[in-house]
Order: sequence, then C-alpha cells, then structure tokens
Amino acid sequence: MTTVTTMTARAQPSVPTAPRGGERSPLLSLRGVSRRFRTRRQETLALDAVSLDVQAHEFVCIVGPSGCGKSTLLGVAAGIDTAFDGEALFEGQPIRGMARERAVVFQEPALFPWLNVRANVEFGLKLRGLSSAARRAASDAQLALVGLERFDRAYVHELSGGMKQRVQLARALAAEPHVLLMDEPFAALDAQTRDELQLELQSVWERIGTTVLFVTHNVREAAILGDRVVVMSPSPGRIKSVLPVDLPRPRLPDDYRVADLAAQIRAELASDGEREPRYAI
Ligand SMILES: Nc1ncnc2c1ncn2[C@@H]1O[C@H](COP(=O)(O)OP(=O)(O)OP(=O)(O)O)[C@@H](O)[C@H]1O
Ligand SMILES: [Mg+2]
Repeated sequence: MTTVTTMTARAQPSVPTAPRGGERSPLLSLRGVSRRFRTRRQETLALDAVSLDVQAHEFVCIVGPSGCGKSTLLGVAAGIDTAFDGEALFEGQPIRGMARERAVVFQEPALFPWLNVRANVEFGLKLRGLSSAARRAASDAQLALVGLERFDRAYVHELSGGMKQRVQLARALAAEPHVLLMDEPFAALDAQTRDELQLELQSVWERIGTTVLFVTHNVREAAILGDRVVVMSPSPGRIKSVLPVDLPRPRLPDDYRVADLAAQIRAELASDGEREPRYAI
C-alpha cells in the first residue's frame, strides 16, 4: 500500500494505517484479512491481506472499482461474514458475528412497509425489550436528529428515497452503535438529495461523535465526508493508498478544495485502468 501526499494530505505510516492522534488502540482493526469465495464455477480472492485500523470517532471512506471487495470488507467488519482468514478485532475483541455495537446501513433501505416511521426506528429497541417510554425517548431523539419528527406516523410508501435513508439512519443510530458501517447508502438518490444527506450526515457525525466506515463509488462524496479515504485496487482487493483529508467542515460539494481532492482520488483509481465515468465527481 502506498500513501498519497498532496496539498490536503500529510504523509502516513505504512499498514496498519494510524490516523491523527498518536498511539490510541483502534476501535476496529483488520489485520491481514483475506476472503476467498469458492463457487462451482470459480474461485475469487475478494480480499487479499487487507489491514486497516479505524480509530474511535473517525470517518473513513472506502473507494474502489466495482468488485474490488468493499462490501466484503464491510461484511467482515459487521460480523456478517466470518469465513475470512486473518484477524478482525472490534474494541480489542475478535469479531465473531453481528453485534448491536456495529450497525449496518445499506444502499436500499431495509424498512418494514407495515410499520410507520416511528415503529421502524423503534423496532430493534422493542426486540431488546426496552420499555415503551424508553423507546419513545430514543425514537424522538433520532427522528429529530435526522429531521423527520413531523413524519413519525408516515408509512414507508409515503416517503421519498432521501426520507427512507434518513429513517434507516435513525434506526441504526437508535441502537447506539459504536460504529456505523455504511455501504453506498446514498447511491440510489438524486444528486440534490445526495448533497443534502451528505451535509446532514456530517452534522450528525459531528454532533454525536460516532465512528463511520463508509463505502462509496463517488469520489466527491468521499472527499466531503472522510477524515481518510482508503483507495482499493481491483481484484484481488487490496488497499492501494490512503489519503488523509485535512479540510475544515462542514465541507460543501462546490468547494474547490473538495473538487481538487476528488480529482486526486479519481487519479488514484484511474491508475488501475478504471474508466472515469464510474467515478462521478
Ligand atoms: N457470496 C459470494 N459468492 C461468490 N463470490 C462473491 C460473493 N460475494 C462477493 N463475491 C465476489 O467477491 C468480489 C468482491 O465483491 P464485493 O461485493 O465485495 O465487491 P464491491 O467492491 O462491493 O463491488 P461493488 O462496488 O460493485 O458493490 C467480487 O468478485 C464478487 O463477485
Ligand atoms: Mg458493494
């Protein structure tokens, strides 16, 4: 893995990557993680000895060509996929399955159509046996955080795509996770809604100080959101470079510094022979 030093980037040590702030133990640590898929027709090395440390409160974006293993990496971090080689640690303990501390947000909101917004947000809390008063307090707080307090009684079919993603985020946050694992959560949204949600996510992240590992194909989105941008190379999936982002927040999509950084990320990706249109700026 190389580290890119740019106008907005400082030099970084080699793997595992340590962000700003010295020798804290990482919240999430992948050490030499490899994942091989075997089907009847073929064998794919989806991840090849990937090492990555994510510190508490960090916002780390992952970009890379389609099929390079981004979702596989997120699945390992979530504990959805445990059939990997190497070591995956969360808060110092081996990841052996899914856990409430690690919430996953997908591209397509996985909401229950027969429940209203509030009931969707409270769903996991009900399973955990929280009292209705505690659930109500949590859903009030999360719906306010994502600006949906007036839509608490709406059903999923009454919501726009952006609102559905806000509900999904509120539901994930209601579990008080220690890390949010987000797999292209805004990819299906129109450009304007995406801009809005990027701003909102920055604001939510700054307010509650959670940790985020965020997969995206959109290099400008990575430049807007990330404290670091991890660039993966195509099959077998490896970490190719890490770009630290030292821009003030909130970052706006039209800021020339964001555009400069997005161009650098795109250049990193393009050096793998990827064609540009896959990486919208
Ligand atoms: N369950 C599976 N069985 C077989 N192969 C798989 C499985 N899951 C992923 N793969 C393979 O592993 C590789 C990485 O897949 P992955 O979904 O992690 O890529 P990705 O970077 O998330 O791609 P995209 O950007 O298109 O979402 C691909 O070659 C894919 O075909
Ligand atoms: Mg994917």
